[in-house]
Amino acid sequence: MIEQSDVAHSIQKAVIPAAGLGTRFLPAAKAQPKEMLALVDKPAIQYVVEEAVQNGITDILIITGRGKESLENHFDRSLELEHHLERAGKHELLAEMRAIAQLADIHYIRQGEPRGLGHAVSMAHQHVGDQSFVVMLGDDIMHEKSGILAGMLAAHDRHRASVLALKKVTPAEISSYGSVAATDLEESLVRVHDLVEKPTPEEAPSNLGVMGRYVLTPGIFEAIAQTKPGRGGEIQLTDAIKLLLGTEPVYGFTFTEGRFDVGNKLDYLRATVELALERDDLGPAFRAFLEARLSRP
Ligand code: G1P
Repeated sequence: MIEQSDVAHSIQKAVIPAAGLGTRFLPAAKAQPKEMLALVDKPAIQYVVEEAVQNGITDILIITGRGKESLENHFDRSLELEHHLERAGKHELLAEMRAIAQLADIHYIRQGEPRGLGHAVSMAHQHVGDQSFVVMLGDDIMHEKSGILAGMLAAHDRHRASVLALKKVTPAEISSYGSVAATDLEESLVRVHDLVEKPTPEEAPSNLGVMGRYVLTPGIFEAIAQTKPGRGGEIQLTDAIKLLLGTEPVYGFTFTEGRFDVGNKLDYLRATVELALERDDLGPAFRAFLEARLSRP
């Protein structure tokens, strides 16, 4: 059972883009979606759906594409598996499997052509309508106690504007992220003045990078419609947010802790170790193994 936070906010819908080919994760992502790769024993996308639900958002649109059918199967009932678990008397596991299908009201739409993150988000227009909404990228897993999304939702409601999750990275790392120019407003909140998608360290307006959570106003759809192909020939969400700055303010919620990057192999390994160490059932034995292993050459 996922506990929902009791903080009230106005956002009702989340969009999870999951149409990417996962080329940074081959060969594991060749015949299965990268979103289904397990972190300990749970697929990455389930962490993201649970984060939305914890924050009171249960209407979720997943943008999928060819070869992503297992995402739909994961969040659906599996009667055969349920019968098997029932017959085997594995009641706890049975309840856990049923709960996954009841987590949220999940909708799916296919992107068709992989034309970039901005294009993927534009596919959500009809579902989202004329309301602000959240975009949650599956390469970023936020710790359940991080409070990052909750802080962003509160900032959106206070300022009635888009809010991006921002974290300082090293100059070498900034070329993997959208980079922003921003000025401080209050604790954990900045006003964004410019954005550049995956700049070189020299081009980067700052070392504040966008971390895969966005609360966006519906104005983003018009901005995406006007966005020309950018980096990699794709319609970039970062470029659309830069256009949005011409018509409305955009804020950033800054944080330092609580994000696991699962977007590349080394960071995925780090995330797996961190999450396994935190588990009550696995953590102590895993820690003992790591300590013993690292004391050997
Ligand atoms: C995307 C965005 C980038 C953002 C990043 C966060 O890039 O384009 O601006 O900083 O997600 O994870 P991707 O990692 O999908 O290439």
